[in-house]
Amino acid sequence: MTKMLDKDARDDLIARGYSRRQLGEVAALVGAGVAASSLLGNSAAFAQQQAARGMKGGVRIGANECWTGPFPSGVAAIASAASVGNWYDPDNYRGDLTSTVAKVEGIPEANIMLWPGSGGPLVSIVAAYCSPTKGLVTADPTFESAWRTADYLKAPIAKAPQAIGKGHDVKAMLAANPDAGLYYICSPNNPTGTVTSIADIKWLLDNKPADAMLLVDEAYLHFSEAPSAVPLMAGRKDIIVMRTFSKLFGMAGVRLGLTFADPEVQKRIMLFGPAAGGLSITAMACGNAVYTEAALIKARRAEMVANRDETIAWLTKKGIEVQPGSQANMFMVNWKKPAKDVQAALLAEKVQIGRSWAIWPNVSRVTVGSTSDMAAFRAAVDKVYKA
Ligand SMILES: Cc1ncc(COP(=O)(O)O)c(C=O)c1O
Repeated sequence: MTKMLDKDARDDLIARGYSRRQLGEVAALVGAGVAASSLLGNSAAFAQQQAARGMKGGVRIGANECWTGPFPSGVAAIASAASVGNWYDPDNYRGDLTSTVAKVEGIPEANIMLWPGSGGPLVSIVAAYCSPTKGLVTADPTFESAWRTADYLKAPIAKAPQAIGKGHDVKAMLAANPDAGLYYICSPNNPTGTVTSIADIKWLLDNKPADAMLLVDEAYLHFSEAPSAVPLMAGRKDIIVMRTFSKLFGMAGVRLGLTFADPEVQKRIMLFGPAAGGLSITAMACGNAVYTEAALIKARRAEMVANRDETIAWLTKKGIEVQPGSQANMFMVNWKKPAKDVQAALLAEKVQIGRSWAIWPNVSRVTVGSTSDMAAFRAAVDKVYKA
């Protein structure tokens, strides 16, 4: 198993306090890439995710995917790349996508790494910066993949509870472990959709230990109008900004993600992420086509906001509590009874909503889908739920 890690990665892990026996466990983790969550135990979140993925038909508003596919230019680019799929990378699809992203973000190409989604690099980043002696710090609730990886690595995990309707409490995050290896900010946050301000992100960057890494996961950024943390990267080697095409761009099954960081940092992530090279030209062609579609991005965001606001207004009118503050394609509903029971009742109506988090067991995350998805959700809530 340890063969999957090269010598640099093995030396790095030993220097961070891993025993030789534990190297195999890390190798298994990074070798499994995005599928790592399956090897990280049968968490409720993972089980719920798998159940959702297995559902045929019905209304899928449980996994924060987009209700529709890539923009037409992206679909056309996939078809044209598929027709030359006998070659590894004819015409430099990788180079074209990297150069487009560099132009749109205003950063050097050397700061950009392409991945098949962002779930893989998230595992790799935790493996690269956490260890049994260097912990992970996150908000709670947040996207729990980093917890699962840290748990598997036996790295200490500190969670700073987040106030309802607010972004991460960055001061509480630092206080939760002032000597961590990795601080993870998800903004907009999954599952609350709330944004952590750039001022707060900068505060954590400037006040965390110099040798710790800050990861800002911007998976849902395009659904909000919040500014990116990318400008904070200038001249620094202790921040990574991560993006995915799985959300607003409607490419969850196509698989494409990005990390933005100093080249030395990218190299370190890659030590623990062999999946970095495994990109399909169809994904890269599609990503290149959609990344510059500013007008369509804006229109899709507006469509999501309209659907979100309509359903939140409807729930509120019925006396069902929705947490405020989401700026992304999800919102949190407080059923005031176990959320998993309401989720199961809605699933029986073929409406698959999201999971709950241990910190708020009565609250479900609901993804914003199409106008008809949301109408079906409202009809199913009317049928199965009595406040
Ligand atoms: C915050 C966040 N980061 C990363 C991911 C990983 O997504 P993907 O691997 O499809 O890019 C997700 C998926 O839901 C997410 O919510």
